[in-house]
Amino acid sequence: MIEDLWYKNAVFYCLSVETFMDSNGDGVGDFEGLTRRLDYLHGLGITAIWLMPFQPSPGKDDGYDVTDYYDVDPRYGTLGDFVEFAHGAKQRGMRVIIDLVVNHTSDQHPWFQSARSDPKSPYRDWYVWSKKKPANADEGMVFPGVQKTTWTRDAKAGEYYFHRFYEHQPDLNTANPHVQAEILKIMGFWLQLGVSGFRMDAVPFVIAEKGAAVTEPKQQFGMLRLFRQFIQWRQGDSIVLAEANVTPEENINYFGDDGDRLQMMFNFHVNQQLFLALAQERAEPIVKALDDTRHLPDGAQWGLHLRNHDELDLGRLGEEEREQVFAAFGPEETHQLYHRGIRRRLAPMMDGDLRRLKLAYSLMFTLPGVPVVRYGDEIGMGDDLSLPERYCARTPMQWSDEPQGGFTKSDKPVMPVIADGPYGYRYLNAADQRRDADSLLNWLERLIRMRKEMPEVAWGAHTALDTGTPEVLALRYDWRNNSVLFLHNLSNSPREIAFRTGRDGAPLIDLLGHDHREVEKGEAFRVLMEPYGLRWYRVGGLDYLLRRTEI
Ligand code: NOJ
Repeated sequence: MIEDLWYKNAVFYCLSVETFMDSNGDGVGDFEGLTRRLDYLHGLGITAIWLMPFQPSPGKDDGYDVTDYYDVDPRYGTLGDFVEFAHGAKQRGMRVIIDLVVNHTSDQHPWFQSARSDPKSPYRDWYVWSKKKPANADEGMVFPGVQKTTWTRDAKAGEYYFHRFYEHQPDLNTANPHVQAEILKIMGFWLQLGVSGFRMDAVPFVIAEKGAAVTEPKQQFGMLRLFRQFIQWRQGDSIVLAEANVTPEENINYFGDDGDRLQMMFNFHVNQQLFLALAQERAEPIVKALDDTRHLPDGAQWGLHLRNHDELDLGRLGEEEREQVFAAFGPEETHQLYHRGIRRRLAPMMDGDLRRLKLAYSLMFTLPGVPVVRYGDEIGMGDDLSLPERYCARTPMQWSDEPQGGFTKSDKPVMPVIADGPYGYRYLNAADQRRDADSLLNWLERLIRMRKEMPEVAWGAHTALDTGTPEVLALRYDWRNNSVLFLHNLSNSPREIAFRTGRDGAPLIDLLGHDHREVEKGEAFRVLMEPYGLRWYRVGGLDYLLRRTEI
């Protein structure tokens, strides 16, 4: 496989333009502000930026309710500003992918307005209608507890329309060839403006059969092939990263048996099992999840995240397991959401314990796939639980100890900046952490640098080694005759482990510290792991760089 599949060994950083950096003092983040922060991202070692929706929107679902797919919301700037940003990212060697939200539009989108106003409108069939309220209208809500139904009557249309998500997000009838053609056109538009692909929102719903008569919607996987073919025809190195929280058995349908559908998916299975493992302080859930999701077609890759902008969805864990994760990381009712997840940010989930935060990060960077860092997590930002639903974890980036955390000169930021308590901007901000050699930010920067020098994780095959200690995960990767090994102690107590690397006699070089190891042939390595400790080793000595370039 050729190494210039850029996404195979990328480091993604996800951000919302609205809450990243305000350049003009109106309280709203904008493209100009983001462009000024490109050097920060580049310095951190990010290789690809994922922008959350920034198109015009009434903002009832933080931009996941689009009214115009071909523009920038004027609050964030202009298309010109977008292109400047895209150019700036390219100059620094960073790719850009953007959210593609085409399962639904906003109900304010002119297409829906036309569709509801006139049964003969060319856009009528772009949405999903029913004369009568379908029997299953109170099933399948994505936001239980907040969303009441999936079919709502529109007085003007005199019919019910389908919406998998909130009532103001009517589903597009994606089986309609005109809608499909429009989706391609939207992708083509942004490719032309410099993006390298899309994080496709809600993919299982985009490709599901929709309609009042559909009781068990089947997925139209052929559509994924169409998307793939189109973007690659337009621009060979463009990708889709799918948001599809499906079972391990279903994953392959999204990649395609021959890898002819989407290039990347978030590994939601590993994500949930990772938090279970952290809660139980046991490696096994991770080992099993890696096995469940081991087989990928050539050229496919996993995106790995810890927390994203939504709740930590634990919906696929057993009830008892979910309760264990709740008890460990989100015990209070206000921490939980939609009866299935945790809405807190990563740092408060870990009680601000730096050892545990680093452990979680290190796992994300060393499991098979590529890491997707969420803005603010690099400095350990907190949440504001007084904000509704998922907004609690979407507060503005804390740049400095200046008013409003340096995010804006306005005293009316678009979202409240966290000011008080241990996560407030006076104590926790990027500027301070840059000056502190021992900060989370500087640690993460080093981690990213090292991870980029370990292509084995992205390209190689992984094996879980037996450490004789259930709390310690030992993962070895092999690729082109090189091996790396990662150890993680998931428990809060020290653990001494003994293991064989499988490469007899080869020394272990500690890449993050000085705990190098050598053993006689036939002996087992012994390592004393501190509570929540971690080790990144290269197996086999320092000639790796030389050997790698020889190949
Ligand atoms: C998934 C997105 O991540 C979420 O934030 C959004 O509310 C829904 N899709 C609907 O677009």
